[in-house]
Amino acid sequence: MTIDLLTEFDLDTVVRIEQETFSVPWTRKMFRDELEGNPFASLLVSREAGVIVGYVCYWVIFEELHIMNLAVVTDYQRQGIANAMMSHAIAHACANGAHTAMLEVRVSNVAAVAFYTRLGFQKIALRYRYYVNPVEDAMILRWRSLEIKNDAHTLDGQEAVSG
Ligand SMILES: CC(C)(COP(=O)(O)OP(=O)(O)OC[C@H]1O[C@@H](n2cnc3c(N)ncnc32)[C@H](O)[C@@H]1OP(=O)(O)O)[C@@H](O)C(=O)NCCC(=O)NCCS
Repeated sequence: MTIDLLTEFDLDTVVRIEQETFSVPWTRKMFRDELEGNPFASLLVSREAGVIVGYVCYWVIFEELHIMNLAVVTDYQRQGIANAMMSHAIAHACANGAHTAMLEVRVSNVAAVAFYTRLGFQKIALRYRYYVNPVEDAMILRWRSLEIKNDAHTLDGQEAVSG
């Protein structure tokens, strides 16, 4: 498995995985806006044998890492791919001064809640009827004291967060 910065050449595949994964998928424009127009955003892709099997979009805003989007193709789940991408995100965030992390997840998303809890996130609140299609509450998860795990490091070409 490799992990690289997402480029515009990856967008077709990432948008297809996004559509297969989520009931309210991000559009190509949303990915492109994050890639080109948001100085706080980073996007990574993971590949197996050169084929994209997962991606993450996150923001590092001052002291906080915010996970915006994360997916791994079904056939490649439970192989540590999301964990590896999160390790890079956490290392990048810590290198830029972040010490907490936050995200929202559907309350019914048992897999994601288990994944984030295992990493170190804890439930801090619910946002009532936050999601549509279907309408559902969001669980807000926070990791109060980020730690770099394993030998994770930032990626070549990954710049310090500006702003
Ligand atoms: C959540 C998701 C990204 C996890 O990706 P993944 O690559 O399978 O996760 P990993 O293999 O790195 O899992 C690491 C650990 O998290 C936990 N975990 C991951 N998926 C789990 C599941 N379905 N059930 C229970 N625990 C799970 C396990 O402890 C796992 O370690 P183990 O396999 O040794 O038991 C993946 O299930 C996914 O893409 N889901 C659909 C999209 C989604 O829900 N994204 C998050 C939106 S906020």
